[in-house]
Amino acid sequence: MTERTLVLVKPDGVERKLVGEVISRIERKGLGLVALDLRVVDRELAAQHYAEHDGKPFFESLLEFITSGPVLAAVVEGPRAIAAWRQVAGGTDPVEKATPGSIRGDLALETGSNLVHGSDSPESAAREIKLWFPAL
Ligand code: PPS
Repeated sequence: MTERTLVLVKPDGVERKLVGEVISRIERKGLGLVALDLRVVDRELAAQHYAEHDGKPFFESLLEFITSGPVLAAVVEGPRAIAAWRQVAGGTDPVEKATPGSIRGDLALETGSNLVHGSDSPESAAREIKLWFPAL
């Protein structure tokens, strides 16, 4: 069954010129691109996107980071797209959780700059896609 997920290449990934690498890995996995948009996000969108983490110790640094430069937002589609993308991305901590062969496992070192984001459930995907791409 086809599913959609929201993918972000965070400011560290854009700054490091890894957008092409990320898109290539999405496509090599067999997932498809539905929408793409490079933009700088404001604090309001960032706070809505990460609302479930409001109050956690890293919330402020997360907002500062995600608004610090351009982000590539994408809607990605395919069978089990949410889990498939999370496998391609690797675990949140690039050293302790992400395995070699994943984007974070191969290319990142710190949880606070872990290159990419992916929705964690069908409910989050629906909410995030509506937030980032209201016209879809
Ligand atoms: S939690 O508390 O387990 O739900 O958090 P987690 O799923 O591990 O992470 C949620 C998002 O916050 C980012 N994160 C951080 N950013 C900056 N600094 C620190 N210390 C930090 N810890 C977690 C993490 O990358 C997740 O972002 P996304 O974009 O969802 O991957």
